[in-house]
Amino acid sequence: MAKFVVLDHPLIQHKMTIIRNKEIGTKVFREMVNEIAMLMAYEVTRDMPLEDVEVETPITTTIKKKLAGKKLAVVPILRAGLGMVDGIVNMIPAARIGHIGMYRDEETLEPVEYFVKLPEDIDQREVLIVDPMLATGGSANMAIDALKKRGAKFIKLVVLVSAPEGVKAVQAAHPDVDIYTAALDEGLNENGYIVPGLGDAGDRLFGTK
Ligand code: URA
Repeated sequence: MAKFVVLDHPLIQHKMTIIRNKEIGTKVFREMVNEIAMLMAYEVTRDMPLEDVEVETPITTTIKKKLAGKKLAVVPILRAGLGMVDGIVNMIPAARIGHIGMYRDEETLEPVEYFVKLPEDIDQREVLIVDPMLATGGSANMAIDALKKRGAKFIKLVVLVSAPEGVKAVQAAHPDVDIYTAALDEGLNENGYIVPGLGDAGDRLFGTK
């Protein structure tokens, strides 16, 4: 079974509490999501492989480490995933960015795929799928399917808030995918929202409600 990691660093917990507050406006919400994503990038990339390189300092020549091997792609699930991209790319500026467009049918609550655009060499990259909310797991599973279908082999799912239902669904369908979340909440309500959650992440990020 792949990893399931709750990234409960105090700074992350503090910023998560800020964005859960319904009184917080779009500007602060966006800034906090960006900062949380940046902090998460630090932990999500902890197992990135390193290689030895020779470096000449002003004093001597020495062998030190640099990042090796697989390159990264960040793939937000549109639209709310976009809010997490800048924070991660600030930490990993060479990462490529793909996009997966998916919306939730309001009646069935099922995800519907409408757009996929990925870096050509996606099969050689470690992929970070980003989406603030892991609710039923429907969109995450569809996004992972879409990526695997196009050759992606190394996939991590990075979310802010997850519901146990969503975690179970992803683990059942994709036991090879590591899940990193900033918080594990109680569950889903009858409308498919995470409780206590933070509401509709897309609407709160883009000020559409
Ligand atoms: N999507 C959201 O934006 N919020 C939820 O609580 C669940 C799914």
